[in-house]
Amino acid sequence: MPDVYNTITSTQPAMVERIAQTLEVRAADIQQKAMLESYLAEVNFPVDARVIEIGCGTGPVARRLAEWPNVAEVVGIDPSAVLLKTARELSSSLRNVSFKEGSANQLPFSDGFFDVAVFHTTLCHLSDPAGALQEAYRVLKPGGCLAAFDGDYASATLSTSDLDPLQICVNAFKESFIHDPWLARRLPAIAEAAGFMPSSYRSHSYTETSDPDYTLTIVDRGADVLASSGQIGQDLAEALKAEARRRVADRSYFGHITYTSLIAGKPI
Ligand SMILES: C[S@@+](CC[C@H](N)C(=O)[O-])C[C@H]1O[C@@H](n2cnc3c(N)ncnc32)[C@H](O)[C@@H]1O
Repeated sequence: MPDVYNTITSTQPAMVERIAQTLEVRAADIQQKAMLESYLAEVNFPVDARVIEIGCGTGPVARRLAEWPNVAEVVGIDPSAVLLKTARELSSSLRNVSFKEGSANQLPFSDGFFDVAVFHTTLCHLSDPAGALQEAYRVLKPGGCLAAFDGDYASATLSTSDLDPLQICVNAFKESFIHDPWLARRLPAIAEAAGFMPSSYRSHSYTETSDPDYTLTIVDRGADVLASSGQIGQDLAEALKAEARRRVADRSYFGHITYTSLIAGKPI
């Protein structure tokens, strides 16, 4: 099964609904919020900054950007009309955010329109991340800033031993929800090839133990993919989910993803 985000406009409505819920669960997570704040703090937002978030989904990052110091206007772009409907509803109290249907590889804006471009866990889902970065470069003003944050999904783990059966959920999740799990490791090179000058590239460690939210969705989504594709039976899928909950209850659960952030400038 291909990455459901990559094929979002033809993804089944029930799955898009699940994606919408997961995006909001993840965005509400304290560690996820801290990572967002941490890399945004490195971005130069000029006074009255115009910001684009490319691949905004239901808009949690766009909503945070709208309240960031110096930001005058935020535009969120996504190919999914369904996710954008939720994004508009959830941001109805914010006057400086708008959403537009579109693709990262063909942004509906003129050259040099924005001061800051943000990709938050989007590039790893795209078929042509290099093309998307070239488009971001085009719509940024000279001196504008790129912020790209993504999971290094190749590092994702639920294992607490060598042959831990929960790890198959991670592998199934990567197959069906991530187009390129290695993309984060190539980000600086791809951005440089698009013309950007990286000023910061660093990792963010995300580990859930006692009260997991997001990594538990990886267990559930991975197990469901394995069952629906017929690779395992429904009983085993339920057993994998139950095993994860057992670990939470006896405090032996471990879920981890390393994220990376890249901050880069468009030369003047
Ligand atoms: C993991 S979600 C991230 C959403 C949001 N940035 C967040 O962190 O909550 C990836 C997003 O990329 C969007 N996407 C998929 N293909 C795209 C494309 N060609 N151009 C722009 N966005 C795309 C999906 O619809 C989805 O909303």
